[in-house]
Amino acid sequence: MILRQLFDFESYTYTYLVGSTKSNTALLIDPVKGNTGQYIGLLAELGLELKIALDTHVHADHITALGKLKELTSCTTMIAKESQLNCDSAPQRISDKQVIAIGELELNAIYTPGHTDDSYSFHLQTDCKNYLFSGDTLLIRATGRTDFQNGSADRLYDSLFSKLLLLDKETIVLPGHDYKGWTRSTIGEEIAHNPRLQKADKTDFITMMDNLDLPKPKHIDTAVPANQQCGKTHNIQATNL
Ligand code: FE2
Repeated sequence: MILRQLFDFESYTYTYLVGSTKSNTALLIDPVKGNTGQYIGLLAELGLELKIALDTHVHADHITALGKLKELTSCTTMIAKESQLNCDSAPQRISDKQVIAIGELELNAIYTPGHTDDSYSFHLQTDCKNYLFSGDTLLIRATGRTDFQNGSADRLYDSLFSKLLLLDKETIVLPGHDYKGWTRSTIGEEIAHNPRLQKADKTDFITMMDNLDLPKPKHIDTAVPANQQCGKTHNIQATNL
């Protein structure tokens, strides 16, 4: 298996390339439109054909590369069945417990609403290690915020405490963002040290999330409508760039 973690300097987004060395095919998770050239170049260097590009949810902070990648490579694009879209090139929809195969590798989709109502995480088991692509549901020493895009602290609590934190403690956590230089963690490490996970009581967790008082994401007014069109940026008014 080939696994690459790629960073977008503007939005602090991580994009993951998962490649099968047996079939020479690959999948991209949360690709950023501005980095499309980097992905195409890396895929060529690694001798991998892009089969699938998917988003963990409709992003508020960057423009997705799904539409661009489909245009350039004819890959299949995928996003949650819960995502509200308005795309010409309709992506395939992901549902809970769906298995997404890339060669011999299988990603298990886990519906983890809370950050948004269309958030998914993806669990990949291999012979030696298990990985969780946690999107913005579980970050390293943090979680995704819950104050826009139908976010819900109540649902995030359930997604974390009744789903993700029940995975094997050795599972490697690969988040959708990081703002402090962290690259990976494990479920066990997050249970022990993530400050937001120390609120085991649901009411306390909701109170904490409801009082974070975070600034609005810089590009939300343009990124969300563009991403609902699978990354198309024309016809979108740049109100907040
Ligand atoms: Fe997000």
